[in-house]
Amino acid sequence: MLKDGYGREITYMRVSVTDRCNLRCVYCMPQEGIAQTAHREILTFDEIVQIVRIGAEEGISRIKITGGEPLVRKGIAALIGMLKAVPGIEQVTMTTNGVLLSHQIEELAKNGLDAVNISLDTLDETEYEKITRCGNLKQVIEGMKRACSCPGLTVKINCVPLMEVKEAQYLKLAQFAYEQGIRVRFIEMMPVGLGKKYKGRSQEEIRKILEKEYGRSRIAERCFGNGPAVYYQFEERNGEIGFISAMSHSFCTSCNRIRLTAAGYLKTCLQYDTGVDLKPLLRTGASKEEVRDAFRKAVSKKPYCHQFTETGKNASAKKEENIERKGMSE
Ligand code: GTP
Ligand code: 5AD
Ligand code: SF4
Repeated sequence: MLKDGYGREITYMRVSVTDRCNLRCVYCMPQEGIAQTAHREILTFDEIVQIVRIGAEEGISRIKITGGEPLVRKGIAALIGMLKAVPGIEQVTMTTNGVLLSHQIEELAKNGLDAVNISLDTLDETEYEKITRCGNLKQVIEGMKRACSCPGLTVKINCVPLMEVKEAQYLKLAQFAYEQGIRVRFIEMMPVGLGKKYKGRSQEEIRKILEKEYGRSRIAERCFGNGPAVYYQFEERNGEIGFISAMSHSFCTSCNRIRLTAAGYLKTCLQYDTGVDLKPLLRTGASKEEVRDAFRKAVSKKPYCHQFTETGKNASAKKEENIERKGMSE
């Protein structure tokens, strides 16, 4: 079992396979794109598998493929198959913007993909184009419908509700999800990168909008998926709607995840660059045990909490103080 320095069990690894993206969502990427990492600096599929194999031996059982946009990486379906074949890996899922999904989903599913989360912030074409700068909403919907028709594949929608998108859109998204028999999760905007410039809507705001149409809501007993999402049921509808609320409901105390960047850095928290660069180890012939040691050491130093809010800042400060005190007395 893999535990960090605060006793949290780490079972879930997010693996970024590219930092490139075919969209330019305003809160995520500048119009001109970002400086692209040279191809030779990006981990090969074999290198990713080497790291996942060590992770799995340590206790990681679930992998999330992310990007950038993971579907722009050539041959990505093959990687899904390779990861599913690693002993100990029980689940491989993906988060995508969905633009390239319709042509690839069948092969992905055939190679063992267990679930796909599709980012979709609005169902209004004009708003969608404004947010993504170059996205084609019809393609995303087509990809999503195809994904929904793949047997055994779980499909979810990720929506980051923006202040400038009209309230009615959130009802439309919820209604769409109910009709498709899938779950939508509303994600609070986090102040990372360009996200600092945009105001999102809070969990409470969205819940109130939905309650006006669907009646009172209560928290669902079951939790779906791997992450920090909390699901609600509304009186007048069957099915659940999720919320991922890093701002209003910090979930760091139950954090179960680490992330591997496309360039091979093992990052132990979303907000900080704490972790270890595994690529130089892999590429200079370090032994498996050396890589494992570096992996373990990084996980043991995973930060306590993000500092997006004052509460987070105070909690982190207290914990750091505790570590120092503990360090001095023991
Ligand atoms: P599933 O449970 O498998 O659906 O995964 P997930 O919800 O962890 O994955 P997804 O990639 O769909 O992430 C949804 C959103 O959760 C992301 O857009 C982030 O906003 C947020 N998120 C994911 N990981 C973290 C994290 O480590 N910390 C924080 N604060 N937010 C995260
Ligand atoms: N805050 C919250 N979610 C974000 N995403 C991208 N940037 C942010 C942010 N600053 C979301 C995308 C996508 C997922 C991978 O991350 O909308 O759903
Ligand atoms: Fe975990 Fe860091 Fe994300 Fe908090 S911000 S949930 S500690 S990775």
